[in-house]
Amino acid sequence: MKLVNGFDLMNYAQKHNYILPAFNTTDLEMTYAIAKGLIEAELPGYIQISSNNLRLSNPYIISRIAQDAVKEAETPVGLHLDHGKSFEDVKECVDAGFTSIMIDASHLPYEENIKECRRAAEYCHFYGIPVEAELGALRGKEEDIVNESDSKTDPDMVADFVERTGCDTLAVSIGNVHGLCLNPQIDIPLLKQIHQVSSVPLVLHGGSGIPKEVIWEAKKYGLIKINYGSDLRKEYIRTFGEAYETNHNEHDVIHLSVAAVENVSRRAKELVMMINEN
Ligand code: G3H
Ligand code: ZN
Repeated sequence: MKLVNGFDLMNYAQKHNYILPAFNTTDLEMTYAIAKGLIEAELPGYIQISSNNLRLSNPYIISRIAQDAVKEAETPVGLHLDHGKSFEDVKECVDAGFTSIMIDASHLPYEENIKECRRAAEYCHFYGIPVEAELGALRGKEEDIVNESDSKTDPDMVADFVERTGCDTLAVSIGNVHGLCLNPQIDIPLLKQIHQVSSVPLVLHGGSGIPKEVIWEAKKYGLIKINYGSDLRKEYIRTFGEAYETNHNEHDVIHLSVAAVENVSRRAKELVMMINEN
């Protein structure tokens, strides 16, 4: 199966009442691991990579790896640009075959956020690709971007923001945190308020550490996608770290990379099944 268009993936998820996980990849091994986890679970989701990460592996390389990783699959998988930092990144990813895009201009003042998102949405919609935008800001660490303060999404701004940006999904800030914060305080009543005024489905960033019961509750209020980054990266690093702790002369990269793919794919499979258990 080819990488699936983001609109088709969301329609499939809504038809089958699934929540779509979006798993952050970094490289070849993590990309194959994420695909393996989704395919084994027989549940849909995204492979995603953040703008920040594209310094390491450019969109064309990630896109080719992802296409190869899903070519025998019968499970729909999309390829998503996460936290797209610029129109240039958006354009490059669309041109490289990404099937879903986030433009993250949430660090800009409101009107500039709208302008940046609108520009990206117009470009992506020419190619029939959905756009995620963020209103509000999350605390925590997303790769090497650290944001100390969070500003929760203001329900009174949602309708105007969605209308004027043309975004197809909205990433919200409701107490979710980037990074391994083990007890994020998710504000479900706020999510309910946002859902009541949003004409588009909602996205939760900072999935690592959010209890499954909270995710199942959030599903009632428009949640369609939840992002996981730290949880998988931890599995990847743990594989190499434990080997090194055992033997400081460890140098069998091939064996450890295969083990890392196993560990990451197992975690991805666990997560996609957990969020869709209910
Ligand atoms: O965009 C990526 C996710 O929001 C990562 O969040 O590292 O807390 O799972 P997480
Ligand atoms: Zn995020």
